[in-house]
Amino acid sequence: MAQAQSRYRLSGAERAMLQGTWPLGLLDDRAREPRIVESAEEFLREVLVGEHLEDFDFVVLPKGTELLALSWEDCLPDDIRAALRDCNSATDFARQLRARPEVVERYRADIEYVDRKRQQRDILRKDKLELGKRIDEAIRMAAAGEADADLLYIAEMRLRVEAPHPLGGEGVKTVCRRDVKDVLGPYASWTLYWDRYDEGFFAGGARSGKGLHVDQVLWSNVGKNWSGHKLIAAWPPGEVSKQVALELYDVLLSPPLSERELQVLGMAAKVVLIRPGDVYLFSGGVAHAVLCVSDEICLGAYESLVTLHPKHVAHFLRTSDSEGPFCLDKYSMDEKEFRDTKDDCIDQLEDAAAQLAQGGPASAPVPLAGPCASAAPALWRGLLAALHSDDGLQRTLRDHYASCVALCAADAYFRQNLPQRVLHAAAACGWRGAAAAAPKRRRLLLGGGGAAQATSDSTSSEDDAPSSCVPRTGGCTI
Ligand SMILES: [Fe+2]
Repeated sequence: MAQAQSRYRLSGAERAMLQGTWPLGLLDDRAREPRIVESAEEFLREVLVGEHLEDFDFVVLPKGTELLALSWEDCLPDDIRAALRDCNSATDFARQLRARPEVVERYRADIEYVDRKRQQRDILRKDKLELGKRIDEAIRMAAAGEADADLLYIAEMRLRVEAPHPLGGEGVKTVCRRDVKDVLGPYASWTLYWDRYDEGFFAGGARSGKGLHVDQVLWSNVGKNWSGHKLIAAWPPGEVSKQVALELYDVLLSPPLSERELQVLGMAAKVVLIRPGDVYLFSGGVAHAVLCVSDEICLGAYESLVTLHPKHVAHFLRTSDSEGPFCLDKYSMDEKEFRDTKDDCIDQLEDAAAQLAQGGPASAPVPLAGPCASAAPALWRGLLAALHSDDGLQRTLRDHYASCVALCAADAYFRQNLPQRVLHAAAACGWRGAAAAAPKRRRLLLGGGGAAQATSDSTSSEDDAPSSCVPRTGGCTI
């Protein structure tokens, strides 16, 4: 581990590159360093059962795009790669896209600029599907001096129309042809939530980036950085994140920084240099900010997930808090959309329950049903074999499943909608509260007047976790 950490030290060339960006003292502070893992297996274990929230961890797998067989050539479609050839900035990329009408037709993306208050804003936000129109307006604004061309940032680039994923086969809008989700195979179901449907692709040149924000859902991100160096700062969860986010929401921390911006950066728990090829894991449910620092354009994508770790599940469930240190009002996902997200979580818990009934993830088939499924690399089979034979991982996944269902059962919406199959699976994994939760759902499933009563009973139980919501095994400390 000490050797891995020393590999994180900045080189002379990196120090020179970082001059005039964020204070180097923040990057030299050992407490703010990321945690480096050296192997793909170790990283996948971190994704599945590790903790990266309370200790403000930021987990980096150097050369991860190579070690996980997620290279630029394998992941991105030919048309995007061709448009990005020789580009150094989002403005270059936008111009290249505009010269290819058939490509512009295929995608949507936000184009962000920085206003006079240093706040990042979407260009033509209401025309979100009109990429060509947005590019034209960005180029006009840059020419008129209304936007700094160097600070333009292309964010959340996706397909305009859903299409089958080449490996997984499910309908998606992500531009990525391979993801960490594909590497994990059946283990991706052993998370509470995994979103690659809407995975966004990002592109930006030196001094551009993403303004300070907290993601609209308190989930985690796994990022792939194919090109360029960027700085990421992340603040402690809860009160500190809320305070800095409300003060500097969407402010791009591009130099020169104001006194106050420097003070806020000094409050960050982690300040990390992300290098080409890094794959990394961190919580998007804390305040975070990105600054691209290399002459080479930064190109990356993020999948969003909620692991089964009880701390991550508890944090996720605070997304819709209406008060307190996790409440971010208009910056959080609205209630209806969040219920849809919870429905996706229930599907995910059912998938894991179905696997459990057949012997667990080690016995499950690899879920590759897309048109290019046969192109999945042999490397992934080896990684899965390592996970299959890890008894500690298998045990912890089951413990976390029980803890996760216990925590979800204390939430009104989940409590009304968790299927029997999930409750039984949680009981098989050691949850003693399953018996207490099951009758309500059973009445619900039987329908009739009893169902209505059960629903209203359940609704009133919000934030009133049964004391039996404690797994018999596992480390739920919430
Ligand atoms: Fe984010």
